[in-house]
Amino acid sequence: MADRHLSVGAAPRSRSPLSDVASLGNSPGVVRGVAADVIDGRVMAAALRARVADEVRCLTASHGIVPGLAVVLVGNAPASEIYTATKKKMSVQVGMRSFAEHLPPSASEGELIKLIERINRNREVHGILVQLPLPAHIDPRKVITAIDPAKDVDGFHPLNAGRLVSGQAALIPCTPLACIRLAKSVHPSLAGLEAMVIGRSTIVGKPLAQLLLSENATLTVAHSRSSDLPTLARRADLLIAAVGRPEMVRKDWIKPGATVIDVGINRVTREGESQIVGDVAFEEASGVAAAITPVPGGVGPMTIACLLVNTLRAACALSALPPPKL
Ligand code: GUN
Repeated sequence: MADRHLSVGAAPRSRSPLSDVASLGNSPGVVRGVAADVIDGRVMAAALRARVADEVRCLTASHGIVPGLAVVLVGNAPASEIYTATKKKMSVQVGMRSFAEHLPPSASEGELIKLIERINRNREVHGILVQLPLPAHIDPRKVITAIDPAKDVDGFHPLNAGRLVSGQAALIPCTPLACIRLAKSVHPSLAGLEAMVIGRSTIVGKPLAQLLLSENATLTVAHSRSSDLPTLARRADLLIAAVGRPEMVRKDWIKPGATVIDVGINRVTREGESQIVGDVAFEEASGVAAAITPVPGGVGPMTIACLLVNTLRAACALSALPPPKL
C-alpha cells in the first residue's frame, strides 16, 4: 500500500533502485513491498490555485481586469457535466468570471461555431474551453479552429500547437502542463532523464512530448503499434501513461525507482461497484516505483489548476501585460 505523500516543496528523493532490495534482503533486482511516494495532485493543485488567486487579485486591483473563462458544453454526457461544473466552480473560487454556455445534444456544428464567434468578441472573456468529446455529428477540428487562438486556453488550436512545436510562446494544453509540474515536484530538472510517454493523442501525448523535449529529457513516445511495450517502458526514469486503458501498465513495466505519472481516468465496474482507475495498476506499481500519482487525486486536479493558469496568462496577454510568474 502506498502511503507517503509528496506535495509542493517536497524534497526530491534520489533512490538507488537496489537500496530497498538490500534492506529487505531480497534477490537483487526484485523490489517487493516497498511503498512509493504518492505525488499528491490535490495538495499541489490547491497551492497553485492559491497562487493564481493572488495574481488575479493583483490584476484586478492594479488594472481593473477580471479574467473571464467561458466553458461551452454540448449535450448531457454525465462525465462532461461534472468536469465543466468543476471548472466553473474553480474559476470563480480564484476570483475569475465564469461564463457557462450549454447547448442541447441536437445543436448543429454551425450553431456551435456561431456561439464561439460571439464569445470570441466578448471582451469580458479571456479564455474559451469547449468540452470534449463533442456529439458525433460535430467536427471538433472545425470547432477548435473557430476559437480565437489568443483565448484558446486548452491550447488545442493549430496555431498554438504549431507555436509549441516551433518553440514560440503559446497557450499549452493543460494536461501536459500538469504532468510536467507533477514530474518536477520529484525531479526539479528533467534534463537527461529517460522519459517515456505511452499515448500519442493530439491533446496529451503529442504536446507532452514537445514539453519533455523542451525540458531536455531523452524521449520515447510509445503507442498501440509499438512492439514490446513492457521492455520499452522499463527503460524509463519517468513513465507517463496516457492511453485510456484501465490498469494497462503493470509492475513489470516499471523500472525500479522510476517516477510514474498516470493520466488515465477510466470508469470500471468491480464486484458490482463502479470505480475510477488509472492507466497504471496503482497498488502493484507503487511497490516498484519511487514516486507515483494516484487516480483520482493526481493529474486531474492539477489539470484544472493549469487551466486557471492559462486563463490568467491569456487575460494578461490580451491586455498587453507581462505574463504572471506562475
Ligand atoms: N475532455 C477531456 N479532456 C479535455 C480537455 O483537456 N479539454 C477539453 N476541452 N475537453 C476535454
